Amino acid sequence: MLSVLTSVVFAVLASRRGCSPADVPDFAAHFGSKTRYEDSRAYRRLLAEPAAVDRSLPRVPSGERCSPVHLTAVVRHGSRYPTVKNIRAMRQLSDLLRTASPSPSPSREDGERSAAWRRDVLRRWDMWYTEDMDGQLVPKGREDLRQLATRLAVSFPSLLGEESLRAGRVRVLTSSKHRCVSSAEAFQEGLHLSANVTLAVRYRHQVDDGLLRSFDSCRGYVEGVEKNRTALAEVYKFKRGTEMEALRKKVADKLGLPHRGLTPDLLEAAFFLCSYELAIKSLHSPWCFLFDREDAKVLEYKCDLKLFWKRAHGHAITLAASCPLFHHVFRSLDKAGRPRRSGDTPPEPASILIGHAETLLPFLGLLDLYKDETPPTADNYQSQHARRFRSSLLVPYAANVVLVLLDCTRGPRLQMLVNEAPVRFPGLPEEDAPLYRDVRAAYRHLLDGCDFHKECEGATGGRGPNTEL
Ligand SMILES: *[C@@H]1O[C@H](CO)[C@@H](O)[C@H](O)[C@H]1NC(C)=O
Ligand SMILES: *[C@@H]1O[C@H](CO)[C@@H](O)[C@H](O)[C@H]1NC(C)=O
Repeated sequence: MLSVLTSVVFAVLASRRGCSPADVPDFAAHFGSKTRYEDSRAYRRLLAEPAAVDRSLPRVPSGERCSPVHLTAVVRHGSRYPTVKNIRAMRQLSDLLRTASPSPSPSREDGERSAAWRRDVLRRWDMWYTEDMDGQLVPKGREDLRQLATRLAVSFPSLLGEESLRAGRVRVLTSSKHRCVSSAEAFQEGLHLSANVTLAVRYRHQVDDGLLRSFDSCRGYVEGVEKNRTALAEVYKFKRGTEMEALRKKVADKLGLPHRGLTPDLLEAAFFLCSYELAIKSLHSPWCFLFDREDAKVLEYKCDLKLFWKRAHGHAITLAASCPLFHHVFRSLDKAGRPRRSGDTPPEPASILIGHAETLLPFLGLLDLYKDETPPTADNYQSQHARRFRSSLLVPYAANVVLVLLDCTRGPRLQMLVNEAPVRFPGLPEEDAPLYRDVRAAYRHLLDGCDFHKECEGATGGRGPNTEL
């Protein structure tokens, strides 16, 4: 009895804090690239204990002694404001609700009062987003990066600890976008806090778009995919397809609006509003009442389709546009793994690369991860429920891929972590941390090829989808 009472009291206290799991929509793990790191399925534990660290890392063969010598992390920026395009759609939606006259024939079953109530609540909702917020990092996003840095520093103190910081040997490269530069600062703040170092030196980073936004300067990609409606045909088709149309009508009915008033873009804006209010303010917003879990899965699929065809395996040129990052990472690992004599300078302990979902997805693609037998299309939603390519899991805010080079008895080994969970290399499924030379052999075709200039400057267009790279 007492324990029941205690847990009730705790539940009440927790909900007062405004961020108990009960206050989170039950589909919070389906917001695609707008998913919070802690909602992304594997990380629910972070909610309970933000500093939780997996003490079993790195995972090395039993009987072999290893020590980490270098870590490269490719990290997505933290939670951010919507971009201008999204903000405009949100405003349009909020204006529509204010001005539209209710549909003459709302679904009776649901009750007119109920649709009217929803509309009334949403009409009174304050559209507080302004265009100048355009994609900037929010305070919660700073916290995302600070906490990630702290957890990594606890897992790898010899690389990210006080000594490395004092010597200024943690290299930080970032995309030029404001949200990434702010994330780069927040990450360093987290390292300094966890090492209890208050250095006179200001945080240092170098902007490198050639590395972290190389897709921008890949002509073959920009013309062949990014600006090419044909290359993204599956996305447009799904947007007007059976599942999205049914959802659009259902939500229009829930609001008592005529069906044609709510376009697919406005439907998405409502879903984004639900996700942003959660990610930015930890609020379970009234916009979320328009959706249930099955609805969220449809909108999540829309996001996955877009990222698959625009930013990942969908077109080989998209992966080729990220070759500079692939080569950079392996060059850093090569350098750190080189044999040294006792007098030599020790290897660079860590290299932190801060970018976007658009940076991580093609990098994971080049590593040949999260590729399904059948690509997602506008028509196969029903058979894709178990797909591996799921943006909510892969690229939530603050998503990260960490490669840790270990100095072991039998030579250097490499451990990979995706969002802090160990992931095996597709070519080497037997081991958590295979020998580095075996990893290099598995990616030999890319290490010897993956030529950005050849792929990107060559003939634009005409490159079919899904050609093996
Ligand atoms: C951090 O450093 C300060 C000053 O040296 C010290 O007083 C404090 O106890 C340290 N905190 C931790 C957590 O080590
Ligand atoms: C656009 O994409 C389609 C399909 O991938 C491709 O066949 C076409 O050549 C592309 N157009 C341009 C201008 O690259």
